[in-house]
Amino acid sequence: MSTETTALQTVRYEVDSDGFALITINRPDKHNALNHQVLTELDRCIRQARQDEAVKGVIITGAGEKSFCAGADIQQFRELDAYSGHRFALYGQAVFNRIEEMPKPVIAAVNGYALGGGCELAIACHLRVAADHAVFGQPEVSLGLIPGYGGTQRLPRLIGRGLAAELILTGERISARWAFEIGLVNRVVPIEHLLDTARELLQKITSKAPVAVALALEALRQSDLPLRQGLRLEAALFGQACGTEDFREGVDAFLNRRKPVFKGR
Ligand code: COA
Repeated sequence: MSTETTALQTVRYEVDSDGFALITINRPDKHNALNHQVLTELDRCIRQARQDEAVKGVIITGAGEKSFCAGADIQQFRELDAYSGHRFALYGQAVFNRIEEMPKPVIAAVNGYALGGGCELAIACHLRVAADHAVFGQPEVSLGLIPGYGGTQRLPRLIGRGLAAELILTGERISARWAFEIGLVNRVVPIEHLLDTARELLQKITSKAPVAVALALEALRQSDLPLRQGLRLEAALFGQACGTEDFREGVDAFLNRRKPVFKGR
C-alpha cells in the first residue's frame, strides 16, 4: 500500500495498488469528531482523490473500532451565534457536497458511532457498509440544534420523510441492523470484514466502464428532480454514454462473448 504523506494531522490518506483511496478520520480519542481542521483535511483528500487519475474509488472510515464519526466537534459550538452558525453549516455542506459530487464511487465504511455530522458524512457517500456494532443517529435536537451538514435534506431522500422525521425529531440512535432494514446502509458485516466488503463493492463498480459509472452517479445524484426534468437529464447522460469508446467496447465484447477492456474514454 503506497501512502501519500502530505502533512495531514487529523486524517490519513492512503492509496492501494488497486487504486482505492482510503481516507481515515483520525481523532479516535474524540470519537473522530469533525472540527474545522478535520473538515479541511477531509476536503483536501477528496480533491486529491478526484484529481489523481490513479485513484478509481474511495473509502471513508474512522480510526479505531468505536466511532466512524461522532459528529461536529461540540467544543466549537460555544462560539457559534446565528451568523457564524450559518457559515459553519455552509462550510460542512460544501465539503460533503464535494464527496457526493465525486465522479468516482465513494463508500462509507462505518466502523462504529455515526452520529450527527457522522451520519451526514455517511449519507453524503454513494454507498454505506456498516460494522454490525455501528450506531446511527441525528442527536442535534438534544443540543438545541438541527442537522446542518445535509441531514434534513439527504436523510428523507434516502429513507423517506417519515423515518427521517422520527430520527431527526427524537434524536434517537438506531442499530446497524435497523439501519439496514430501512435502507440507510447497503451491507452490515462483522468489523473484521468491513474494509474488505467495501473494497469488494469498489472492485465490482470499478470493473465497469468508468465514464458510465460517473454518468450514473451524476444521474443518481439528481434523482430528486421533478420526474420529467429527471428523465430529460437521464436521456442527455445516456446520449453521452453512447458517445464513448467504452460503450462500443462493451457492446462488441458482449456480442463476441468476450470480456470487455474499458479505457475510461
Ligand atoms: N465533539 C467533541 N468531542 C466529542 C464528541 C463530539 N461530537 N463526541 C465525543 N467527544 C469527546 C468527549 O467529549 C470525550 O472527550 P474527553 O475525553 O476530553 O472528555 C471523548 O470524546 C470521549 O467521549 P465519551 O462521551 O466519554 O465516550 P463514550 O464512549 O461514553 O460515548 C458517544 C461516545 C459518541 C456516544 C458520545 O461521546 C456522544 O454522544 N458524543 C456526541 C455525539 C453528538 O451529539 N454528535 C452530534 C453533534 S451535533
